[in-house]
Amino acid sequence: MKILGIETSCDETAAAVVEDGRHIHSNVIASQVEIHARYGGVVPEVASRQHLLQIAPVLREALSQAKVSWRDLDAIAVTVGPGLAGSLLVGVNMAKAIAVAKALPVIGINHLEGHVYANWLRRDDDPSGDPHLPLVSLIASGGHTDLTLMEEHGRHLLLGRTRDDAAGEAFDKVARVLGLGYPGGPAIDRTARQASSPHSFPRAWLKGSHDFSFSGLKTAVLRLVEDIGILNGKGEASIPDPDSSIANIAAGFQESVVDVLVTKTVEAAQKYEAREILLSGGVAANSLLRETLSRRSPLPVRFPPPILCTDNAAMIAACGYFRLHAGTKANGNLDVVPNLRLI
Ligand code: KG4
Ligand code: ZN
Repeated sequence: MKILGIETSCDETAAAVVEDGRHIHSNVIASQVEIHARYGGVVPEVASRQHLLQIAPVLREALSQAKVSWRDLDAIAVTVGPGLAGSLLVGVNMAKAIAVAKALPVIGINHLEGHVYANWLRRDDDPSGDPHLPLVSLIASGGHTDLTLMEEHGRHLLLGRTRDDAAGEAFDKVARVLGLGYPGGPAIDRTARQASSPHSFPRAWLKGSHDFSFSGLKTAVLRLVEDIGILNGKGEASIPDPDSSIANIAAGFQESVVDVLVTKTVEAAQKYEAREILLSGGVAANSLLRETLSRRSPLPVRFPPPILCTDNAAMIAACGYFRLHAGTKANGNLDVVPNLRLI
């Protein structure tokens, strides 16, 4: 079964063709990151306008790279939320229009559930097979940090979530105070590698719960940056970084986030007797997180390649396949749900 996935929830215009929820025939992503970097973050009006400009060429390219025509497709899966309303609308309206014009069924996908399904996508020669349920899944993105128990397809039990900032949001905000630009996650990941002696920051353990909190850590970084006086007139740290103080702060911050994410995820996986642990969402691209979780987990750990951790439409198509199999009905009257939750 070949599904066309469409994703426009934030600042990537993406379309993909995926077969049987696992095999990628095409995965086209038009990123707006350079446009938004000028403003230090995503500007919603600019994002929706860019989606409008990009969506038709991105769709054409996805079909062309997959070497399929509309007739070869079996269904369309499109992100309905969570995300920016104006951005979501572009993808959802396009999906509905194609569904009518080409007589294809269309289903709406929760972007967060889509992230999880990036772990089902694999190369033909990959011997690892599908993830084994029940599993514990950490979805860490720019807007969410959710820890869930996935018992079967479409059934996610929320174990914990962030009480304040999402992990990716903390990366973005700290990168901004360190003068490292947007998006912050990859910049901190890179800069931290230059650290000579990572700074030590506190961890918010929130004992007895599987929840997370990152805003205290963010404030601790800001205080330190102010104290040691590396801010310039615009409230940003000065670069270059001759004594590697920025790298040491970036590395210490990253270690603190990763320590908490890994410890709590492993604890939950053991408590709920999961068979494996899945990472997903943009923060799952973080090299320290991938390496630390793999090292510290007694259970098998899976994470997608970095390009499938950040926003893409292949994960939406994969999720669509498993949703259709679990009985979700096609719905030509889809609407966007900007504040949709996973559970
Ligand atoms: O999943 P995603 O592409 O979009 C949302 O659904 O939010 O996640 C974007 C987030 C951003 O906050 C970005 O800074 C973070 O993922 N991110 C990373 C890395 N790559 C992207 N965070 C840490 N390390 C990375 N290598
Ligand atoms: Zn995302």
